[in-house]
Amino acid sequence: MTLERVCSIQDVPDGEVRSFDLGSVRVALAHIGDAFYAIGDQCTHQDVSLSEGELLAGSCELECPKHGSCFSLETGVPNSLPATKAVPTYVVRIDDAAVYVEID
Ligand code: FES
Repeated sequence: MTLERVCSIQDVPDGEVRSFDLGSVRVALAHIGDAFYAIGDQCTHQDVSLSEGELLAGSCELECPKHGSCFSLETGVPNSLPATKAVPTYVVRIDDAAVYVEID
């Protein structure tokens, strides 16, 4: 496992989500209040970037822009169809105003 620096905390404003390529892994990094969440950026239904969807801060979900499956930012599980498989989730660490994720 390696700790990868993703960005500065200022690069993802509160209430927004951005996509980052970390080697072979592409993550959607979401910022809600004091928390950052990192999940796989590819929908498990079709090859669509989840980071282009809507961030649902109240339910801590990211909605796929194509068919509307809502993925939990905490577990990666889709809470609505048509997607049925979870996306990967990554542990996020904040250090010295930078965001890091743990990649296997
Ligand atoms: S492509 Fe994401 S729900 Fe269909």
